[in-house]
Amino acid sequence: MILVTGGAGFIGSNFVLDWLAQSDEPVLNLDALTYAGNMENFAALDGDPRHVFVHGDICDRALLDRLLAEHRPRAVLHFAAESHVDRSIHGPAAFVRTNVEGTFTLLEAARAHWSRLSDAERAAFRFHHVSTDEVYGSLEPGEPAFTETHLYQPNSPYSASKAASDHLVRAWFHTYGLPVLTTNCSNNYGPFHFPEKLIPLMIVSALAGKPLPIYGDGLNVRDWLYVKDHCSAIRAVLAGGRPGEVYNIGGWNERTNRQIVDAICALLDELRPDPAGAHRRLIKFVTDRPGHDRRYAIDARKIERELGWRPAESFETGIRKTVQWYLDHQGWVERVQSGAYRDWLAQHYGAAA
Ligand code: NAD
Ligand code: DAU
Repeated sequence: MILVTGGAGFIGSNFVLDWLAQSDEPVLNLDALTYAGNMENFAALDGDPRHVFVHGDICDRALLDRLLAEHRPRAVLHFAAESHVDRSIHGPAAFVRTNVEGTFTLLEAARAHWSRLSDAERAAFRFHHVSTDEVYGSLEPGEPAFTETHLYQPNSPYSASKAASDHLVRAWFHTYGLPVLTTNCSNNYGPFHFPEKLIPLMIVSALAGKPLPIYGDGLNVRDWLYVKDHCSAIRAVLAGGRPGEVYNIGGWNERTNRQIVDAICALLDELRPDPAGAHRRLIKFVTDRPGHDRRYAIDARKIERELGWRPAESFETGIRKTVQWYLDHQGWVERVQSGAYRDWLAQHYGAAA
């Protein structure tokens, strides 16, 4: 069995669904179900005994100890985090709690579990920390993309908290020998993406005829990766990554925010034309994000060289699939927007939730 934290979030739920589509190894999914966790994402796994969901917090050491002793996972895949930069600007405390204290608590619980395993189990055990390219800070146009040895220069409360968690993970390898793996990935997009982040927000707002708010001049650059490619990269690193190593994951798809929004508008004009006019008419330039990083770019050659991983999707194929997913899942969007998704556990599982 593997333990996944934050498995009800955007990337975590894609990971759990993809994992169980390809393997019979069960998943113990621990998630606190903050606003970002959505149990409806697992409707396809209804009654599947391979998916064991636990509603709980990674800061709860007693719960972690109990789960690790009971299920004896061979690996921990740590996705749980507060993940939205804008929220971290308004309320950084939750980011320090979950991303720093939560990672610390999980590392300590994993270390205690690992120390009790047999020699063979200890050698095979992995703690995989899912992190972000934002820890490296911001690049100027033309600067080389982030490699695994790039200086840490986090600029937002979110990226600072993720950087702190990366440092803890590194220290638990060097000091205690815990077999850790760290991946630093670029911007993901795809199914189940909460519509507070750029791509899903633009899709759902355009469909509703609402303004499409672009921060600043819209020329900030991100490197976009289809979420299922991130999941396949994590599986590759878990299977073949060397303990203590860091692997950057990216899509080789640098785009300005304007290019992203233009691409979404063009796809919606094709797939769901609006009689009121082209979707681009809804674009609105708004006040910039404080401390807005100008450019991220990932050099993903190490993971390709060592583990043979490359993304399967181009931006064009991935964004088309994503727009189509949102068109096909408007009920999911409505329940997220109305807040009804938060009642799903109780409605679906009743008293057992
Ligand atoms: P998300 O916000 O969609 O999901 C986070 C999940 O963690 C939610 O289900 C939430 O309920 C859960 N959670 C939050 N606090 C918790 C706690 N204290 N205990 C247990 N569960 C808790 O995030 P995401 O976009 O899926 O990101 C997942 C991971 O990947 C994060 O660590 C993030 O830093 C990293 N990452 C994200 C991206 C991206 O583009 N979204 C890119 C690179 C790395
Ligand atoms: O780089 C990886 C990171 O990508 C992850 O670690 C984070 O968890 C994830 O949220 C994401 O962070 P960003 O800040 O890059 O993503 P976001 O979707 O919030 O914004 C993408 C770009 O779009 C960024 O330059 C800000 C801009 N933006 C965003 C929103 C929400 C807008 O112009 N308008 C908006 O309304």
